[in-house]
Amino acid sequence: MARPTVWITRRLSDATLERAQRDYDCIINWEDRLSSADDIVAMSSRVDAIIPCHSEHFSTDVAARLDPRLKIIANHSVGVDHCDLPALNARGIVVTNTPDVLNDATAEIAMLLMLGAARRAVEGDRLVRSGSWDSWSPAFMVGKQVTGARLGIIGMGRVGRAFAAKARGFDMEIHYYNRARLDPELELGATYHGTIEALLGIADFLSLHCPATAETAGLMNAERFAMLPDGAVMVNTARGALVDETALCAALSSGKLAGAGLDCFADEPGGNPALATYDNVFMLPHIGSATVSTRDAMGFRALDNLDRFFAGQRPRDAL
Ligand code: DGY
Repeated sequence: MARPTVWITRRLSDATLERAQRDYDCIINWEDRLSSADDIVAMSSRVDAIIPCHSEHFSTDVAARLDPRLKIIANHSVGVDHCDLPALNARGIVVTNTPDVLNDATAEIAMLLMLGAARRAVEGDRLVRSGSWDSWSPAFMVGKQVTGARLGIIGMGRVGRAFAAKARGFDMEIHYYNRARLDPELELGATYHGTIEALLGIADFLSLHCPATAETAGLMNAERFAMLPDGAVMVNTARGALVDETALCAALSSGKLAGAGLDCFADEPGGNPALATYDNVFMLPHIGSATVSTRDAMGFRALDNLDRFFAGQRPRDAL
């Protein structure tokens, strides 16, 4: 059989590209430019497989227009909210993702955001850099202590558990909400709450780790922000769609939230200019999985899925 042709939509890690080119005929987007819906549709007649990132959207409309030559979309991401899975599966296209390999990297960023937002790291950095740090007093730059505080995790999946494991190192009292309670050995000593509302009532720190779906869209809205203890800190390393950003701004303005740490936004790239006006918001440009070893692991996991598919087997991460 001729070697399959694979379109790699973004500049993946060197190790990934080297292995991909060894095993497949590759079309690589060396310029790392974002592809439009029309680019994706046009390319689908030239390739057997695509390795896209979460920035390329396979909407219902794109799914309907894809060329029958395309057989598999091996995502270089764990999140698949950019793919209309039922529509793609109905076209007979296999879709895979890259679970597990980015758990620790993403949990590290959640920890960074939680600590940074709680201890006012960005504000402090700005002050020192600007040369306007001219005094010290016991009332100066006082933040919120993380050690021993109560942490609420919404979504105790792979990343949520990796974050809980790291938070235990800070002696946090960990609570979680998940659609189903985990087996006790997976709970890491965390306390289960059967409703999001019950969890919010005790969450001095709240971290979101669930996928973006129709059910979770706008999960953190005005009503739910109001349920948090006063002065809570929210961290989001999952997807911007989970948060109503207007309600988030209101919660920051009223002081209900003492701060927020965000690695994702409703509009990406770019973020939300309204959020950028708050000193107590620590923002990063969706870099949860951005470490050298994790990006290699994500690329290799996507290639493993392709290898199994083209060997006539079901890919490990078929969705
Ligand atoms: C993921 O894998 O879903 C991350 O958000 C990066 O794409």
